[in-house]
Amino acid sequence: MCGALVGGVIGAATMFVPAPHAHATPLPPNVENGRYLTRAADCEVCHTAEGGTPYAGGRAFSLPGIGVMYAPNITPDKTAGIGAWTDEQFVSAVRKGVSPHGKRLYPAMPYPAYARMSDKDVRDIRAYLATLPPSSQKTPANTIHFPFSIRSLMVFWNMLNGPAASYADDPAQSAEWNRGRYLVEGPGHCGDCHTPRTRTFGLDSSRALGGNIINGWRAYNLTSDRQSGLGAWSDAELAQYLSTGHADGHGTATGDMADVVGHSLRYLSAQDIHAMVVYLRSIPPLHTAEDMLEGTTPPAGDAALPQNTRGARLYASTCAGCHMADGTGRQSSFATITGARSLGADNGRNLVQVLVQGSGMQTATGVQIMPHFVGGGLSDRDLADIASFVMTHFTTATPHNMEQAVQDAKRAN
Ligand code: HEC
Ligand code: HEC
Ligand code: HEC
Repeated sequence: MCGALVGGVIGAATMFVPAPHAHATPLPPNVENGRYLTRAADCEVCHTAEGGTPYAGGRAFSLPGIGVMYAPNITPDKTAGIGAWTDEQFVSAVRKGVSPHGKRLYPAMPYPAYARMSDKDVRDIRAYLATLPPSSQKTPANTIHFPFSIRSLMVFWNMLNGPAASYADDPAQSAEWNRGRYLVEGPGHCGDCHTPRTRTFGLDSSRALGGNIINGWRAYNLTSDRQSGLGAWSDAELAQYLSTGHADGHGTATGDMADVVGHSLRYLSAQDIHAMVVYLRSIPPLHTAEDMLEGTTPPAGDAALPQNTRGARLYASTCAGCHMADGTGRQSSFATITGARSLGADNGRNLVQVLVQGSGMQTATGVQIMPHFVGGGLSDRDLADIASFVMTHFTTATPHNMEQAVQDAKRAN
């Protein structure tokens, strides 16, 4: 934590250093800044197989219709990892998506966002990665279908959608806003999940952070719209959610967002979290029906669960042990789900996802686990009835075709 704070201060300080002239000698790498940015950019979550050695690669990314690709080993091993690369080669891979020998990377690696980082920041990341123990773990070969298997096609994709340059601060905005924009658009790559895509799979900048579906979950609208975005959240709630994964009255981060908080955002300094909040606040409202926050939650202390439907009875026996009758967490506030968008929005999409996949998040007080309910004796209809009950008990949403929604979520896994 101390390291993160130091890193944060250094990170914040480097913004004010004027950009070096092209001919100036590069500054010596700063490992502490590198460690901080490696976390802010969440490199570990993708470059680590489940239960595997950190940064040794092997996590599979399955792209429907395209194939399966594996994140490579980025430890300093000279053959299996990137130990033999020069700094220039590393900067080119991370900022331009071009690895040694002209190998064009697929944008599953978020280089278009990382292009916002300066060469110096990326060299710092390299300097930090170089301090890790080398791992000789080989990365499995990708199984990408033709024609996507032709990496050089990415040249055209980059022409359409490709990386921007790192840009200068906007002098009309505060230093905080500029730092927030850098963190959100650069290392944080929030738009990779929260911005809708164009037909060529680029980010649709006209609807930046307007919400999108990612791996079956809805990554909600982060614009300042009151009903479908973050407009009704207070600054303190937003900061609490980003730094801990839970905000009172807005629920707990699950799915990919649990990974983002658990591996990345919770290590950021309070100043940097605040800077992100300042920037997110400035995004003009965009209204999206799918992200509508649905209605109300039962008043706290509502201990009487209706027992008149299958869904209500199943909730009482299966869920209330952790979430109580009124949605408050029995063991910890991480299980307090009242007010969460996922209880009603988008026909309960994330609610169904969490029932089918479960969720887990690293927190300062240990791992928070929500178990999944597949193969444990509950039928699709049971899960559908539970979901319908949750939606109507805690929100004003009208569930439809929930059994189909459960089956779709199961099939996608
Ligand atoms: C969202 C997941 C994701 C994140 C986050 C991510 N990467 Fe990657 N990265 C990938 C994937 C997938 C590939 C392989 C792409 C391919 O095969 O074209 C890759 C490729 C790379 C490569 C090229 C390796 C090679 O052998 O060619 C490097 C270097 C790299 N990533 C470094 C990083 C660093 C540093 C960070 C953090 C700043 C990072 N990655 C964050 C998914 C990710
Ligand atoms: C890998 C995908 C991914 C990335 C990257 C990501 N998010 Fe998310 N985010 C999600 C998903 C999925 C949800 C929905 C989580 C849930 O239902 O519990 C979410 C939820 C949220 C929420 C809660 C919104 C609400 O209305 O409940 C906030 C705030 C948020 N993200 C902010 C961010 C910020 C800021 C970043 C960048 C630092 C970011 N996210 C990066 C996937 C992502
Ligand atoms: C063993 C305790 C436990 C049980 C049993 C349990 N949950 Fe959870 N649930 C949690 C925890 C902890 C979280 C937060 C997980 C995270 O952040 O990854 C959570 C998260 C959720 C969320 C996400 C809320 C949000 O804010 O986005 C929903 C919805 C949910 N649970 C519904 C249910 C339902 C419905 C059941 C019964 C079928 C159930 N849970 C059973 C512990 C539990």
